[in-house]
Amino acid sequence: MDLKITVASIAPLQASAEVLVLGVPTGAPLKKALASLSKPLGAALAKALKRSEFVGKKGQTCDVPVHSASVKASRVALVGLGDAAAVDGPELRRLGARAARFARSLNAASVAVATSQIELDGAEALIAQGAVLGAYRFEQYRTGDRVTKFPLEKVVVVTAGKADAALKQRVADGQRVAEAVCIARDLVNIAPNDLYPESLAEYAQKVCAERKDAGLSCSVIKHAALKQKGMHLIDAVGRGSAKPPVLIHMKYRPAGSKNEALPKYAFVGKGLTFDTGGICIKPAPGMEEMKGDMGGAANVVALMAALAVTQPRAEIHGIIASAENMPDGDAYRPGDIFKSYQGKTVEIINTDAEGRLVLADALHYAVEQGVELILDNATLTGACVVALGPTVSGYFSNRAELAERVKAAASRAGEAMWQLPLVEELRDMLKSDWADLKHVGDRWGGSITAALFLREFVGETPWIHVDIAGPSMSNKVYDVYAKGGTGHGVLTYLELIDDLVKRGVASQTTQA
Ligand code: BES
Ligand code: MN
Ligand code: ZN
Repeated sequence: MDLKITVASIAPLQASAEVLVLGVPTGAPLKKALASLSKPLGAALAKALKRSEFVGKKGQTCDVPVHSASVKASRVALVGLGDAAAVDGPELRRLGARAARFARSLNAASVAVATSQIELDGAEALIAQGAVLGAYRFEQYRTGDRVTKFPLEKVVVVTAGKADAALKQRVADGQRVAEAVCIARDLVNIAPNDLYPESLAEYAQKVCAERKDAGLSCSVIKHAALKQKGMHLIDAVGRGSAKPPVLIHMKYRPAGSKNEALPKYAFVGKGLTFDTGGICIKPAPGMEEMKGDMGGAANVVALMAALAVTQPRAEIHGIIASAENMPDGDAYRPGDIFKSYQGKTVEIINTDAEGRLVLADALHYAVEQGVELILDNATLTGACVVALGPTVSGYFSNRAELAERVKAAASRAGEAMWQLPLVEELRDMLKSDWADLKHVGDRWGGSITAALFLREFVGETPWIHVDIAGPSMSNKVYDVYAKGGTGHGVLTYLELIDDLVKRGVASQTTQA
């Protein structure tokens, strides 16, 4: 994305952009803001306010045409922020996104974004993030007339403070973090004929190579090697495809931290570049959406790219198990039994429950890295979407305190995540007559039994499992999210890493 984002310390109406978007809270702050706007905007303001019944409530907008030569923008939009005291980071990110979308809807090349009487640390960077996320478009496969002719090129973030070098750096970093999130969106949106396990690996390698100086590296365990190592579950899932499976291992250490002892964490992603269901094939309607079954992997690549910007004091491993689940004469089948990388044998029940299989081997690989925490994320179960709806992720943890910290991190990030329980009684559903484990329980509690299956492979390592099946892809624009891939999760993981680095992983062992 080539959005140019600048910071300016000027009166909002003086910002040089085609469109001005002003975030305003309700009540007294709104009155104060209107008082300063009424003269330059004249009668058009009163008229627009009346028609839109604008009082600054969250989600309200008031679009005012500008007739005055003293105002640079030709349109001013007021965006309600709700109660001034309750305005938080996610709200400012949404403001940035709405500003970018408003400008885009007018085919404007530039937009200025300002807030009225909001004092929040890092506000400018959050607005910049929102602008990038709101302006996102995926046009890789468009040609001719379908290519955007008048793209949004410039965003001016108006600050009430000083636009000094430090602030400019924070805004630039905010932009780069949001651009990293857009990597996850791109990866989900790329067509599955172009994105298969080995091309996903190449993409990850490119992302890391471009950020080598910021501490990223990447190695890939190819099909023959992963079979040789004993990752038979990844191999099983990939067997029906002409495209071989891979395990991708990215690593981050802060630049210049060579021999320093650092805390180690692993982030693991499900990378099914397409999921037909295999021999237990899915129904045709909607099957095209299963190109997004690598949303967890996409988030891991995006997260690693973001770490190159945020530079936390930790060693962070990004691990992706990638395969394509296809029906074929050589595909794995129900009744098959495979030895997992960890050692337990697994009886296959339904070849459409492939995600937990590739993750099982990736989780054990993560344990082998000697990390003190593992977070995996995956478009794992339809049951999770049934439980929480399409916009909320479900997460599980084997540590009660960690679950609380995920909750807080998601809230700071503005991402909807809800804890689900590891119901011990359901563990019996995974007992197999012929192997150590079945990988699927019965219909009820499908997300929970999937999580219980994964838990078998993390040993005692503090672990979080996030089922992003709902929000990883969206069929509409909402919040800061775009249609298609959303990157939902990445901002939460960044917040969580921040917290882990500050406070460490708790030593308590309470079962969640
Ligand atoms: N990738 C799907 C889950 C999914 C469904 C993701 C909808 C996004 C949207 C997963 O591999 C799957 O097929 N799960 C099955 C498991 C079942 C066979 C036990 C499911 O949820 O139906
Ligand atoms: Mn499946
Ligand atoms: Zn799947």
